[in-house]
Amino acid sequence: MTSDDLLARHRAVLPSWMPLYYAEPLELVSGSGRRVTDAAGRTYLDFFGGVLTNMIGYDIPEIREAVERQVRTGIVHSSTLYLIRQQVELAEKIARVSGIPDARVFFTNSGTEANEAALLVATNHRRSHQVLAVRNSYHGRSYAAMGVTGNRGWSASALNPLQVAWLHSGERLRGLLARLDESDRIDAAVEDLREVLATQTAGDVACLIAEPIQGVGGFVHGPDGLFAAWKKVLDEHGILLISDEVQTGWGRTGEHFWGYEAHGVTPDLLTFAKGIGNGFALAGVVGRAEVLESVPAISFSTYGGNPVSTAAGNAVVDYLLNHDLQANAARVGAILGDGLRAATADLDSVAEVRGKGLMLGVEFVRPGTTEPDPTLTTRVFEACREGGLLVGKGGLHGNVVRMGPPLTLTEDEAREGLAILVEAIRSSVAAAEVIA
Ligand SMILES: Cc1ncc(COP(=O)(O)O)c(C=O)c1O
Repeated sequence: MTSDDLLARHRAVLPSWMPLYYAEPLELVSGSGRRVTDAAGRTYLDFFGGVLTNMIGYDIPEIREAVERQVRTGIVHSSTLYLIRQQVELAEKIARVSGIPDARVFFTNSGTEANEAALLVATNHRRSHQVLAVRNSYHGRSYAAMGVTGNRGWSASALNPLQVAWLHSGERLRGLLARLDESDRIDAAVEDLREVLATQTAGDVACLIAEPIQGVGGFVHGPDGLFAAWKKVLDEHGILLISDEVQTGWGRTGEHFWGYEAHGVTPDLLTFAKGIGNGFALAGVVGRAEVLESVPAISFSTYGGNPVSTAAGNAVVDYLLNHDLQANAARVGAILGDGLRAATADLDSVAEVRGKGLMLGVEFVRPGTTEPDPTLTTRVFEACREGGLLVGKGGLHGNVVRMGPPLTLTEDEAREGLAILVEAIRSSVAAAEVIA
């Protein structure tokens, strides 16, 4: 069967609002390390990792064997009504590395459900359904998660169980706070928070939910320290802070294990997903016992923290810590980030190369302006694929190429991908100039 047949069948039975990448969509049929092979037999270096999810890479023996061991026991599922050794062990590890004191962990199957659980906990703890969220955010596809998602293109419904008030993100390039210097942006973002609390809420707000680096939003973020400045104000009111670490967790930013650590603050709750399962459905929320215990009825997830996913999760966390992948993300990410900055410094269609560690984005604009150029972005994206490199796309205006490769990326692979990326950018910019 060819990929063409599969594409027609896909379009015939799957909804169009679940988009496919590329003018000619890819079917990935095998993978090893940081490389994947498509149905036509072509191999690509993968800098997107199934949206930052194949965090250790493909076909990693330690993870495969842990999963196979669990499957061989015959217990693929038992339900949370019974003790699950793998789940308890993983919760112990996550509680230990979370940085949250007296931590409790609740496992779910997806980042959406993790955020839903965090919002459930926070709104019950505070007995309020008022929530603060950040513009340009993405938190998932349930009603509450869409309700705190500040991106029209990813919010498929206006129905919202929460009353949400919106904060400026403090990002550098766009919005009312853009172009202020870092400390002025923090001051302005704090002023914005105080004003929103005073004008758009009844005061007794449950929580603020925020991503340390906005993933779908195109890897933009406010200045380091912003969460701490916000939290000072939140603490005056007893408002909880939820850090959505679905993309930023597990050392991906290189400089820290969690994104929130760049801000010099510990959140009340953090949510995790994607990388922890290295492809197996595993996610969850961590919080102080006093907060996480605020659920007044039974609440369980049939598959949340199931034996197979948590077997994978344990192997992932062990691998991550034993190989110090955070340090690798910092080292290899610097090769990629610095290389990209140097290679694009003379291009006025590149507004910014940004991000931390192995979470890097390139924003494309019309030359010399901040007007988004999604057409050029798509051209670069397709050219990367032609060159043998898979990357992602994002940003509110679809004008950011995103990279979130496995944290096991080697220096040679970083240089190989960098060369493809730079060539894709340069040839696409040159082609755009000819058309203009
Ligand atoms: C920051 C963030 N939070 C939550 C989610 C939702 O996760 P899931 O797709 O596993 O429901 C995502 C997914 O991209 C995300 O990037």
